[in-house]
Amino acid sequence: MHGTAATASLSSAFLPFQGFRGSLDSTFRLQWRKPKKAHRTLITAQIELKPPPYSLNSLEPHMSREILEYHWGKHHRGYVENLNRQIVGTELDGMTLEDIIIASYNKGDFLPSFNNAAQVWNHEFFWESMKPGGGGKPSGDLLYLIERDFGSYEKFVEEFKSAALTQFGSGWAWLAYKANRLDVGNAVNPCPSEEDKKLVVVKSPNAVNPLVWDYSPLLTIDVWEHAYYLDYQNRRADYISVFMDKLVNWEAVSYRLEIAKSLAAGREREEERRRIEEDEDRMADSEAIEMYLDSESEDSETD
Ligand SMILES: [Fe+2]
Repeated sequence: MHGTAATASLSSAFLPFQGFRGSLDSTFRLQWRKPKKAHRTLITAQIELKPPPYSLNSLEPHMSREILEYHWGKHHRGYVENLNRQIVGTELDGMTLEDIIIASYNKGDFLPSFNNAAQVWNHEFFWESMKPGGGGKPSGDLLYLIERDFGSYEKFVEEFKSAALTQFGSGWAWLAYKANRLDVGNAVNPCPSEEDKKLVVVKSPNAVNPLVWDYSPLLTIDVWEHAYYLDYQNRRADYISVFMDKLVNWEAVSYRLEIAKSLAAGREREEERRRIEEDEDRMADSEAIEMYLDSESEDSETD
């Protein structure tokens, strides 16, 4: 997602999600070390402040220019700047943002950079979850899965709103795709089951996001007070309703779902390929043992 900041397409909001799978195994765990004193030429931390994909006044009257100027221009910017200061010269420097999140989540034993890294990712994802003239009802495969997994679109909205409303204090509510996930250290459910390959609504405190459970996020709403207080004061429920009715970018959510399903299918193929290879190796080993035993027995008969 980073490196092409302002011009990155919607697809780039999800593609880096593929990156951490290969680099972090289930035993991955980091010990936090203080940043090394960095020589000027070695400074590489450059997580960028990605702007929303629309002008700051284009969500009005549902989300004001003023709140976006604070929310994106100060809060989001602050997370980016803090993160770059924290990771420069450390082992996290140079990783993708997604890898930094998983590594610094550290199986629930957060490293200092986790909150800033996750908040940078969450805010980019949040901006891209909205669009001017959004809201309404999704269509196609997304609607089919929503109706299959929640009973109806209305029941999904009820569950999503409830998650957003009942997240105590600061945090986020999410629609996510929960696929079969194997051998994943952070996962809530690391084994495939009947419960997988489905849409779920989850909420998370502070900066935590579903990437750390290895789910594929599809939609999010920021329910930190800084996201709505200037426009809605303490009326979080009104803010959530307006978000669903007027702001959600369902095209973005549908696109993310296609990417998530494609990633899950790729993983399944990889698992199957690995399983077949292991079976073949086992078979070759047992044939070799049989041949050895046969030759031993022929030798003893000759003796
Ligand atoms: Fe926020």
